[in-house]
Parts: sequence; structure tokens; C-alpha cells
Amino acid sequence: MKEKSTEIINKSAQSHTLSEDEIAELLKAGDASLLFKTSDAVRKKYLGEEVHLRALIEFSNYCKQNCVYCGLRRDNARLNRYRIEPEDIIRLAKKAKGYGYKTVVLQSGEDPYYTTEKMVKIISEIKKLDIALTLSIGEKTYGQYKAFRDAGADRYLLRIETTDEELYAKYDPGMSLENRKKCLENIKSLGYETGSGILVGLPGQTVESIAKDILYLKFIPVDMAGIGPFIYNPDTPIYEISGEESKDEQLNKKNNFELSLRVMAILRLLMPDINIPATTAMETINCNGRITALQSGANVVMPNATEGDYRKFYEIYPGKICVSESPAHCRLCITNKINSIGRSVCKHKGFHKRAV
Ligand code: 5AD
Ligand code: SF4
Ligand code: FES
Repeated sequence: MKEKSTEIINKSAQSHTLSEDEIAELLKAGDASLLFKTSDAVRKKYLGEEVHLRALIEFSNYCKQNCVYCGLRRDNARLNRYRIEPEDIIRLAKKAKGYGYKTVVLQSGEDPYYTTEKMVKIISEIKKLDIALTLSIGEKTYGQYKAFRDAGADRYLLRIETTDEELYAKYDPGMSLENRKKCLENIKSLGYETGSGILVGLPGQTVESIAKDILYLKFIPVDMAGIGPFIYNPDTPIYEISGEESKDEQLNKKNNFELSLRVMAILRLLMPDINIPATTAMETINCNGRITALQSGANVVMPNATEGDYRKFYEIYPGKICVSESPAHCRLCITNKINSIGRSVCKHKGFHKRAV
């Protein structure tokens, strides 16, 4: 078994291809140190030591969708909802630029309050700052994606979450996998740098299903892949819907962290030049999560640039890091962490440069 996975890893570090079975094999339990070491080496070979920072502005936690796992789901009455007004979003983006960020990510639930017109105005104002702009605001029509792109948005993030029909139908009621795939096609065809990704460790999810997700991300092919470990949110009905018994959440966190690292590392082997963030969720379940991720294939971090209490209210899952810190604090904190492992913060916008 051990020799088999060594062979798979060494082969894919050269060829950047893996079959579904091989991916499933690498996702299964067993020592993953060679996988992590190899993905770190591939990252270094293709992307060097620079880490891209993207300033995250969480501008609204209203969502019209009802994803079973997510704290922002519309039926969660326990969440304090907020919206940041367009002029304040622009002000936060200006501040982020002041902290030296070269990219701002505007993220929200699917909130119809921000009409196409409002978004276009926000985007064009922010683009005057000469920084890259990423949108992460959910499923929209082709016309809306086009309007945002025409206004200057550079990148779009839309996680596929899972490509498993059954899991998708169960956990994303009222949405369809087909439409989500269509959205990603539209985003791609409009020339956005396309980001997607998955949730890892959803109740009922198998390594075989994750292997298919990974191949889908390569099929698109994404410019960026964000991998989030699933974290249980008690304000959601996930276990009622999944039919699972009450869980050992400590063990869950440990397993989902490790499995997410493997997914990231495999993606790095398959897509050596893409941007892969060390996600906030990874650090939420492991206090050294982002650094560990940066040493297992990741090359991006998305520090929070939202101000005040809003951070706390953007509660997709409990225990989120950085909720009491200021944007200035996080900027310094993450730079120090990155420098402490001999890496440096990139001074440019950090677009995806295709090398293979
Ligand atoms: N744990 C971890 N990540 C989650 N997301 C939603 N709910 C959870 C959860 N319970 C992620 C999804 C989505 C993004 C808004 O947050 O992947 O794309
Ligand atoms: Fe809304 Fe996204 Fe959460 Fe689903 S995962 S409820 S679309 S914020
Ligand atoms: Fe926010 Fe470290 S990045 S406290």
C-alpha cells in the first residue's frame, strides 16, 4: 500500500495527472507526509516563495439560499444580519489598499439588496484604486456576471461545494448542481479568473466523491481552488438532514483538517501553477492551520479586512478566527507568520500565470 502511494505521488509530481482511483487512494488514511512534502516542492518549483494576500470584505450576511450546512442560510433566525452600504464598502476597499493589499475580495451571501446597478457602481469605484477585484457573491445570471466583468471585476469565486448529485440535492435545497456548473461556465467564458472549490468532510461524503470533485476542478480548469473543511454549526440542521447521530466534533475537526490538507496537496500536484488559498476554516479548526496549508501546497491567504462587529456576525460556522481583530492587526499578523517560515508577501496583484 505504502509503495503504491509513493509511486502515485512521484508520478503525478512529473505528469500532473492522476486517475480517480489514484486520487481516492491518496485521500485514504495512511501517512501523508510524502504527499505534503511533494506538493510543497511542486508549489516552490512553479510559484516560488511568494504568498499572495487578498483582503476580504464581508459586506452582507443576508442570504436568500438555505444551504443546510451554512450559518448564513435564510432560515437561521439566530444570526444578527447586517449590510454594509456601498459607500462604506468602497471606503473599506480604500483602507485595504492603504494596508498594502493588491486585491480586494467582496464577499456576501446571495443578497438581492445589492442590485446589478449598485454592484456595478461599487466595482467601478474600487477599480479606480488600481487594485485587483474579486467577487464572491453567489449565483447570478449571465447578464449580471457580464455587467460586473464589464465594470472591471477581475476574478470570481464560486465554490461548487460538491459534485455529488445526491449530496448536492440534500444539502443545497432549492439549488441545482447543473445551474452551479452553468454559472462557472459563464464566469469562465467571460474571462474572469475563475475560482471554485469544495467543502471537505460533509456528513455522508466519501473519498470517492471527493476524488470526482478534484477532477472536476481540473476539468474546468480553475485558476484558483479554495478548499474548506466542513465545520459543524449548531444553528443549522445538518445532522437532522443527513440522518447522522450526534458526533465527536473534536475528532471531526481533526479528520476534516487532515483530509482538506490532502485535497489541497493533490490539487497542487494536478494543477501546479494555480492559486490555492490557506483558508480561514483551516485555521479555525487548527491553530496553525494556515501555515501548515502554506507548507502543503497553498500560496494565498485571504486576511479579513472587514471592520468592527460585522466580522463576528459573518458566522458561517462557529469559532471563526480574527473576529475581534482589526484589519491592521490581521495584516501585520499574517505578514509575520508568512515571514516566519521564510516566505514573503507578493507586492503584485498575483494573477494566475499558466505554466503547464
Ligand atoms: N463549514 C465550513 N465551510 C462552510 N461554508 C458554508 N458552511 C460551512 C461550514 N459549516 C463555506 C461554503 C461556502 C462558503 C460561503 O462557506 O463552502 O462556499
Ligand atoms: Fe448562502 Fe453561500 Fe451560505 Fe449557501 S453557502 S447559505 S449560498 S452564504
Ligand atoms: Fe487575523 Fe492573525 S490574521 S489575527
